[in-house]
Amino acid sequence: MTQQPQAKYRHDYRAPDYLISDIDLTFDLDAAKTVVTAVSQVSRQGASEVPLKLDGEDLTLVSLHVNDQPWSDYQQEERHLVISGLPEQFTLRIVNEISPSANTALEGLYQSGDALCTQCEAEGFRHITWYLDRPDVLARFTTTLIADKAKYPFLLSNGNRIDQGELENGRHWVQWQDPFPKPCYLFALVAGDFDVLRDTFTTRSGREVALELFVDRGNLDRAPWAMTSLKNSMKWDETRFSLEYDLDIYMIVAVDFFNMGAMENKGLNVFNSKYVLARTDTATDKDYLDIERVIGHEYFHNWTGNRVTCRDWFQLSLKEGLTVFRDQEFSSDLGSRAVNRINNVRTMRGLQFAEDASPMAHPIRPEQVIEMNNFYTLTVYEKGAEVIRMLHTLLGEENFQKGMQLYFERHDGSAATCDDFVQAMEDASNVDLSHFRRWYSQSGTPVVTVRDDYDAENSQYTLTISQRTPPTAEQPEKGPLHIPFDIELYDSEGNVIALQKGGHPVHHVLNVTEAEQSFVFENIDTPPVPSLLREFSAPVKLEYKWSDQQLTFLMRHARNDFSRWDAAQSLLAIWIKLNVARSQAGQPLSLPVHVADAFRAILLDEHIDPALAAEILTLPSATEIAEWFDIIDPVAIVAVREALTRTLATELADEFLAVYNANKLDAYRVEHVDIGKRALRNACLRYLAFGDEALAVKLVSYQYHHADNMTDALAALAAAVAAQLPCRDTLMQEYDDKWHQDGLVMDKWFVLQSTSPAENVLETVRSLLNHRSFTLSNPNRIRSLIGAFASSNPAAFHAEDGSGYTFMVEMLTELNRRNPQVASRLIEPLIRLKRYDEKRQALMRAALEQLKNLPDLSGDLYEKIVKALA
Ligand code: ALA
Ligand code: ZN
Repeated sequence: MTQQPQAKYRHDYRAPDYLISDIDLTFDLDAAKTVVTAVSQVSRQGASEVPLKLDGEDLTLVSLHVNDQPWSDYQQEERHLVISGLPEQFTLRIVNEISPSANTALEGLYQSGDALCTQCEAEGFRHITWYLDRPDVLARFTTTLIADKAKYPFLLSNGNRIDQGELENGRHWVQWQDPFPKPCYLFALVAGDFDVLRDTFTTRSGREVALELFVDRGNLDRAPWAMTSLKNSMKWDETRFSLEYDLDIYMIVAVDFFNMGAMENKGLNVFNSKYVLARTDTATDKDYLDIERVIGHEYFHNWTGNRVTCRDWFQLSLKEGLTVFRDQEFSSDLGSRAVNRINNVRTMRGLQFAEDASPMAHPIRPEQVIEMNNFYTLTVYEKGAEVIRMLHTLLGEENFQKGMQLYFERHDGSAATCDDFVQAMEDASNVDLSHFRRWYSQSGTPVVTVRDDYDAENSQYTLTISQRTPPTAEQPEKGPLHIPFDIELYDSEGNVIALQKGGHPVHHVLNVTEAEQSFVFENIDTPPVPSLLREFSAPVKLEYKWSDQQLTFLMRHARNDFSRWDAAQSLLAIWIKLNVARSQAGQPLSLPVHVADAFRAILLDEHIDPALAAEILTLPSATEIAEWFDIIDPVAIVAVREALTRTLATELADEFLAVYNANKLDAYRVEHVDIGKRALRNACLRYLAFGDEALAVKLVSYQYHHADNMTDALAALAAAVAAQLPCRDTLMQEYDDKWHQDGLVMDKWFVLQSTSPAENVLETVRSLLNHRSFTLSNPNRIRSLIGAFASSNPAAFHAEDGSGYTFMVEMLTELNRRNPQVASRLIEPLIRLKRYDEKRQALMRAALEQLKNLPDLSGDLYEKIVKALA
C-alpha cells in the first residue's frame, strides 16, 4: 500500500463536474494483453478551470486525444488521470492496455477458465479504462469486440448486436449497442466458447424476447432449470409488479471464477456458475431454489437497479434491499412462504445481527466507506430488504405497488437516492414515513422488550412495549424507531381473540414509535397467550419472559406457520442458554420431558406441512445460538448443540424412524411438496445418525448408495460426517472419486470436510489445500474450504491454542495479494474479537496485528483490520 486508504463520506456527495452522454468502446481482446479504445462524448457542467478527473487503476496509457488532437495537458496519478484545459464539449479518445490473465482480483476484465469476462460493480470499470466511474454518470454504450474466432467464437456485450464481420488472421468482430443510458458498473463483455441454451419469452404486450443461456461446453444438461427460472421471473414481474422486459434479448453467462453470486449487467448477466448449473445428480433442492432466487434477483434488477440506479454507492440498498425484497416475494409466491420467511429470519438473526454487533456495523445506508466492496453486506442486502418489507407491512400491497409506480414515473432513466424511494412511497400512500426514515441512518439491532398484564376485573390486557438500540461501533447514540409490531392473542382453546379498544377493532400491526408505549386491549375474558412479532415484522431482538407452556401452546395452536416455528425456536433458546451455562460449569445436559414431547407432537402431527416440520426439527445453527450471548463460548455452544441432538435422537428414536420411512418418495422431482418431504425425511435421518450406531450406518449407507438425486446423497453424507459414523471416510472417498473433476460438486464435499467435528479437522483442511480439485484461484473453492472453516466450524476455528487464527493469517496473507475482495469476506470471523473471552481476544488481536503489517495490505482488509483493532 503506497498511501493509506481514505474514507469517503455520504455527506460529501457532489454532482459530477463532467457528464458523458455516449461512449464507444473497442476491445482488441487477448488474454495477456488487451487494447481498449474509449471514445467518449463529454460535456462540462461547471466552471472551466475544473479539470476532468477520471478514475483508473492498473492501466497502461497508450494515447490521449481531445477532438482528434493529441492532448498533453494531463497528469497521471496513482488512481486518476487528470485532464486540464478542456473545452465545454469534446470528444475524448483514450487508448490503453490491460492484462486480463494477470488480473487475479477478478475485478474489471479477467480470465475465467478459457473465457474472458468482466465484473464492474462496484468500481471495476476503472480497471478497464479511465472513466468517470460513478453510478450517476449515465451514458449510451456502443461496444466493439475483436478477437480470435477459434478461441472466442462468442463475443457478447450489453444491448443489441448491431453488426459483425470477419478479419484476417482468423479474427472476427461483433458490435453491440445498448439503447439505455447506464452507469459503467453495468457494463459487461464476455468472450469465449460456450454451449448455448436458447428459448423465447413473449411479454404481456406481445414482444418476443430471445433468451440465451451460455454455459461451458458439455454443461447443456445443467442449464434448463436456470432457463425455467428466468421465464418464471419475467412472468412474475409482470404479474406482481406490472414490470415488463425492455430489450429484445436477455443473455446469461455462467462462469466458474466469480467473486460474487451474479451480476445484473444490462441485457448480459454474468453469473457464478453455482447459481446456474443444476442437474438432478449434481445439485440439491437448496441449489435449485437458490438458482431460482438469484436468477430472479438479477432479472428484477432490470427495473430496480438498471432503469433506476443509485446516485452514489452509499445508496446501494436502494437497489439491493429492494431487489432482495422482490426476490423473496418471488420465491414465496412460487414456493412456501413460511419456509422462505423462516430462512430469511435465520439469516437475519444468525448473520446480520452478528454484523451489527461487529466492528463493521453500519446502517443500511452507510455514512462512510473506504472500500465499497466491503459494503455488499447482509446489512445492506438482507436488513435492507427487511426495511422494504416493513414499508410493505405499513402500506399494504396496494399502496406499496402505487408507490413503486410513482417511483418509476419519477426516476426511470436516472440515478436516485433512498430518500427518493421513501418519498415516492409516502406520496403514493399518504402514510407518514418521517419517523420511519431513521431505519436508513441508524445501525444496530433494536431490542424490543415486552411486558404484559392481564386485568381480570376490567377484562383488559395491556402490552407494554419498550425499545432500545444498543450502541454500535460507529454510532454511539440511538433513537427510537418506527417499528411495525405484529401480534395476535389466543384464548386457552387456541381461538384468536379479536383486538378491540373502545368498542373499535384494533389492527394487528401495532405502530411502536416511542421508547416505551402501552397498548390496552378490551373485552378480553381470559388471560390470553400472545403471539409476538409475528412474521418477524421488524428486524429486532424480542425479549419477553416466555413460559414453556406458552411456547408449546403456540407451537401447536398458532395460526401461521412462521409463529409455530418461532415458538419452537424460543423454546429451544431457553433450554440451550441454560445448558450452555451448565456445560461451562461441567454439568451434563438437562432437558425436561415436555420439551422433547413438544417436538414429538410435531413429528406425530398428521396435518403439519412436512417442510414446516423439517424447519421446526432443525436446531438453530451455532452462529444463530452465538447471537443469544454477549460473550460467545464456541466450544460450549457446539457441545450443547450436539448433546441436544443426541438427547432428542434417543428420546424420539421411534418417531424419527417412522417419519423417515413414511416419507419415501418415487423418482426425483423439483416440486415443493417433494422438497418438503425430502427435507423432513433428511432432518429425521440427521437425528437417526446420532442414535443407534448400527442402524445409523445402515440407513446412511443405504440412502447414500441408492439416492437418485444429490439432495438425498448429500444429506446422508452430511449426517455421516456430523455424527462421525464409522462409514464416513469410505463414503467421502467414494464421492471424491466420482466427482473430483467437477469443482462445483466438490464444493459441497469441501464444506463437509471443513465443518467436520473431527478432532484433527484443521490438519485435514490444510492437507486439502493440495487436493486435486482445489485451487486458490477459484473463489468458490476458497469459500468452501477456508471460508466455511472460519465461519461455520466455530469450535475448531476458535481453538484455544490459536491454531485456527494462525491458519487464517497464512491464508489471508496469500489472498490479500491475489484477491482482496475474497480475502475481505474471509476475514470477518477474525475481526469479531470483542465477542470472545480475553484469551481468545488476545490471540485474535495478535493475528490482526500481524496482518496489519503486511507490506502490500489491500484497502479492503485495511478497512476491517483498523476498525477491529480500534
Ligand atoms: N449487484 C450484484 C447483485 O445482484 C452484486 O447483488
Ligand atoms: Zn443485487
